[in-house]
Amino acid sequence: MWIAPIVVLIPLLCGLSNASPDLGLDISIDYVTQNNPNVLSSANMVGSATSDLQGAIGGYQVSRLNGSTSLIASGEALVSLVGNITLNVNDVLRNISIVASNRQNAPSCMFGSMNATIDRAFVAIDQAGALITLIKTSTSSQNSGALTSWMQMIQTAMTDISTYLDTLYKEVAAVMAAGTLSASTVSANIKPATLFNLAGSISVVTTAEKGLTTTVRSIRSAFEQASNVLNSYSNDMTNALNSVNNTQRDYYNQVVSRINSYQGKVSWEAGWGVNDIVNTVSRVNPFMQDSVTRTTALQLNSSISTTNIAIQTNANIWSTSLQTQMTLLYTGAEAFVQNNIKALVPVFDSSLFKLAATMSVGGTYASNCQSRYGGAIANLENNMRDQLQRCFNDYANTGYTDSFISEYNMVIREQTRTIANRINFCLNLGSTSSNSVIKAGIAKCLSETVIMNDALMKDVSIQTKLVVAMVNLESLATVQRVEACGAIMNHGLVAKATSLDTLLASCQTTNQ
Ligand SMILES: *[C@@H]1O[C@H](CO)[C@@H](O)[C@H](O)[C@H]1NC(C)=O
Ligand SMILES: *[C@@H]1O[C@H](CO)[C@@H](O)[C@H](O)[C@H]1NC(C)=O
Ligand SMILES: *[C@@H]1O[C@H](CO)[C@@H](O)[C@H](O)[C@H]1NC(C)=O
Ligand SMILES: *[C@@H]1O[C@H](CO)[C@@H](O)[C@H](O)[C@H]1NC(C)=O
Ligand SMILES: *[C@@H]1O[C@H](CO)[C@@H](O)[C@H](O)[C@H]1NC(C)=O
Ligand SMILES: *[C@@H]1O[C@H](CO)[C@@H](O)[C@H](O)[C@H]1NC(C)=O
Repeated sequence: MWIAPIVVLIPLLCGLSNASPDLGLDISIDYVTQNNPNVLSSANMVGSATSDLQGAIGGYQVSRLNGSTSLIASGEALVSLVGNITLNVNDVLRNISIVASNRQNAPSCMFGSMNATIDRAFVAIDQAGALITLIKTSTSSQNSGALTSWMQMIQTAMTDISTYLDTLYKEVAAVMAAGTLSASTVSANIKPATLFNLAGSISVVTTAEKGLTTTVRSIRSAFEQASNVLNSYSNDMTNALNSVNNTQRDYYNQVVSRINSYQGKVSWEAGWGVNDIVNTVSRVNPFMQDSVTRTTALQLNSSISTTNIAIQTNANIWSTSLQTQMTLLYTGAEAFVQNNIKALVPVFDSSLFKLAATMSVGGTYASNCQSRYGGAIANLENNMRDQLQRCFNDYANTGYTDSFISEYNMVIREQTRTIANRINFCLNLGSTSSNSVIKAGIAKCLSETVIMNDALMKDVSIQTKLVVAMVNLESLATVQRVEACGAIMNHGLVAKATSLDTLLASCQTTNQ
């Protein structure tokens, strides 16, 4: 698209020179620093053209938000384009301004030092096409069309400038070759047309830059508008996700404290049960000494130890299973919630990125569509947050397991009381000084108690397994309830996001 011309400035030795005002010659020349048009005043427009363009881009921070990949590339390209014009292209005009009026060096040196500047300007102009292509991906065709025209104007005018400079330098060299410097050698060798044309081409460049300033302003403002939209929604999304995680953390704490409280209750209950039974041992002691009751009393003594160990063991099994199960319940619910989020976020993002893209291309209806549907995207994020919270609180309430704890504690309480009562019942039948018939009855009663203890402990063990199984089932049911709740929420939100996409698309084309 852009073709750099070859600029031929005849190389001349840099010698000592007379301090000269115009084109390095010690003479005033028409249309260089005086009359209208003149090269100097045209070239001096570079100051305001540069500051206008810099003003249009100054302070523009290209924000690096998710979903703005092409917006980032386009924003950076816009900054580069302006930078290359205000620096590389405009350096040529600055050079011309100095050559037109300064007297620091011999003309050969002054013109010679412009060669590299012109080369850099054309490298920049060559690259402008690629930069405009990048900007195009995020801006309206109107804006990219305007960019292209301004750049074409600049390129054509710069080509002309380099041609006229070349001619001018040859004319200056001819003046110097003529020997005496005078108004007549100047008018014989330097054609006013060269200077008119040079001044005119310079004006085309600065005029195009003024036009470019307006286009750059409008592109920048659309890019910023899009970034603001993305930024505000990405903040909302971050807040929604953090809030879901806080709920999750609260839920985790709830589970942990529930586990601690359940474990405390069970160990308290088992402790009291064991205590009740142990308290009977001192009363059993005398019967262990008596010849009639000795055998069964000793059996009971050892049955009491076995029973107490069994109660503690079962309570521990229950406690451990409870901990494992409730932790699994938490991780199951957490995994489901996080999976939901993973599925939903890209759906919301896609609506959001479409909206941001609309804002950046600055379509006619962009701001209407933003005000109509922008809030709906924020609502989707907030709905996700609220509904996931509800799924946790309503369907994963660990309070549902409370009844299993009470039941289990009741089993322990009943069984241990039965044992203690039964032992006391046997011992209340008489004492070691009772007659042998009564003592035989006590002995029999104690041996039946031993059998009963075994039976009760088998029952406790079965009850423990049952309650553990019930907690397992309840945990599973809890996770399934959270899953079902999440799935319903998910479908609802995806459907809303999809219909929002449709509405947004139609808004973008029809403003409806
Ligand atoms: C100016 O640039 C051209 C093309 O790059 C080159 O041929 C010429 O020698 C250069 N002249 C000076 C004075 O450096
Ligand atoms: C951007 O996306 C990545 C990956 O999807 C995510 O980890 C990150 O949190 C997002 N950043 C913001 C600010 O949304
Ligand atoms: C000129 O554009 C190039 C990319 O084509 C970029 O890397 C460079 O930074 C720009 N120069 C300025 C001064 O902005
Ligand atoms: C032309 O501009 C370049 C880059 O700013 C500078 O190094 C050089 O001295 C300038 N030459 C003249 C004659 O102003
Ligand atoms: C939320 O918690 C999950 C783990 O449950 C973690 O992977 C994710 O990074 C957290 N998200 C935020 C936004 O903190
Ligand atoms: C009764 O049982 C306890 C605990 O097993 C034991 O330490 C104690 O020696 C037993 N008493 C007798 C008299 O065997």
